[in-house]
Amino acid sequence: MMTKIKTAQEIEKMRKSGQILASVLSEVEASLKPGITTEAINAIAAKKLKKLGGSPAFLGYYDYPAVICISINDEVVHGIPGKKIIKNGDVVSFDFGVNYEGMITDAARTILVGAPNKAKSALIASTAASLDAGIEQVRAGARIGDISAAIQSVLDDHGYGIVRDLVGHGVGHQLHEDPNIPNYGKENSGPVIEAGMTIAIEPMATLGSYKVYTADDGWTVLTRDGSTAAHFEDTILVLEDGFEILTR
Ligand code: MF3
Ligand code: CO
Repeated sequence: MMTKIKTAQEIEKMRKSGQILASVLSEVEASLKPGITTEAINAIAAKKLKKLGGSPAFLGYYDYPAVICISINDEVVHGIPGKKIIKNGDVVSFDFGVNYEGMITDAARTILVGAPNKAKSALIASTAASLDAGIEQVRAGARIGDISAAIQSVLDDHGYGIVRDLVGHGVGHQLHEDPNIPNYGKENSGPVIEAGMTIAIEPMATLGSYKVYTADDGWTVLTRDGSTAAHFEDTILVLEDGFEILTR
């Protein structure tokens, strides 16, 4: 079913959910240093989330075993926190979801650990820019294809792989609601969006091919060619004449 138009009260809860999410993510980002394990970062996220009065949207979702996804280098999304130790030069993606009084928001950020690296820094910056270009298309009456085409155009300009097997989505009462929001496509195509819808836009790009596979853990999605990947996501409220970013 198409994502429901959220009521004013639901939107207020999603604003709060998104603010909690943004503060947890900034604490998580600040903790990212060589030597820390991904399970220690997961614990930091869980503690801060509890303190702020939210609950995890990912934990238990199809039996996902952690509160945050941490995906490193050739891992695109859904990396499970564990004993892995962060090192200099790692490209680390955090994907996090918050449930506040029944309303869910979803966001992701990618960070390079240590000194800038031309290729990796450019991939991260362009993936973030492609998300912003997609968000800029959002307003009542726009079509999903407008968002997709704007994202694709930024990533194509740089020759990055655009992951196709995973897409953005409606969000709110559930983590994943319709419609799907692909990161490639044609403008003026697909479902029309309406004011009061809440959607998660989430480009995933690679330094190589767009092809991915799922690891034996059943979760971690990796690039087939081993190339580095980046992922950015925000939850957006559709307005009559534009958008509101709920997760920054
Ligand atoms: N955050 C992912 C998304 O953007 C979903 C994570 S799957 C979970 O759609 F199991 F970790 F929840
Ligand atoms: Co999402």
